[in-house]
Amino acid sequence: MAGNLTRDLAGKTALVTGGGSGIGRAASLAYAREGARVVVADVNVEGGEETVQRIKEAGGEAILVHADVSRAEDTQAMVSQAVQAFGRLDCAFNNAGISGGMDRRLTADYQEEDWDRVIGINLKGVWLCMKAEIPQMLKQGGGAIVNTASRGSPRRPRWSTPSPAYE
Ligand SMILES: NC(=O)c1ccc[n+]([C@@H]2O[C@H](COP(=O)([O-])OP(=O)(O)OC[C@H]3O[C@@H](n4cnc5c(N)ncnc54)[C@H](O)[C@@H]3O)[C@@H](O)[C@H]2O)c1
Repeated sequence: MAGNLTRDLAGKTALVTGGGSGIGRAASLAYAREGARVVVADVNVEGGEETVQRIKEAGGEAILVHADVSRAEDTQAMVSQAVQAFGRLDCAFNNAGISGGMDRRLTADYQEEDWDRVIGINLKGVWLCMKAEIPQMLKQGGGAIVNTASRGSPRRPRWSTPSPAYE
């Protein structure tokens, strides 16, 4: 594996929302292995700190930003902190998301507040992140954004999380 690394991302800055756990942590570590400086953004400070620690132990550079992607002021501050720390933003992986219990309940059994919370994070949160990230990338002349969705949802009615809305 190590022999296949290109370090194509040397000198670049990558931001990962939900970087404190699961897929986001794996992506953060992968960006760092490819040479990027990583901004780990999460509401889970403990998990985010662990991701940052692992990157530093492996010889990489990373910072943790506490950000709730459903809050515009947080997503704007997240990008500002990334630029303040590393001077630019080249890659963004908008990965933070929750199931809100919707993967285990039937549609008619959802609570309205759960629906609003999932929409706020999984759908609006992705847009708020891009709204903050795109102007910075345009200012620099480019960048790359990847958003997480779920292909299972449209085919499985019980998995009615809103991620298919932006597929
Ligand atoms: N694992 C799967 O099978 C699967 C399937 C379909 C979609 N997804 C999606 O992939 C993404 C990552 O999944 P995972 O399995 O790694 O989940 P995970 O729960 O391990 O990681 C999600 C991370 O997002 C963070 N987060 C939650 N709400 C946040 C918020 N408002 N602001 C910032 N951070 C927040 C959590 O603290 C956590 O660290 C999610 O969007 C999830 O919905 C996962």
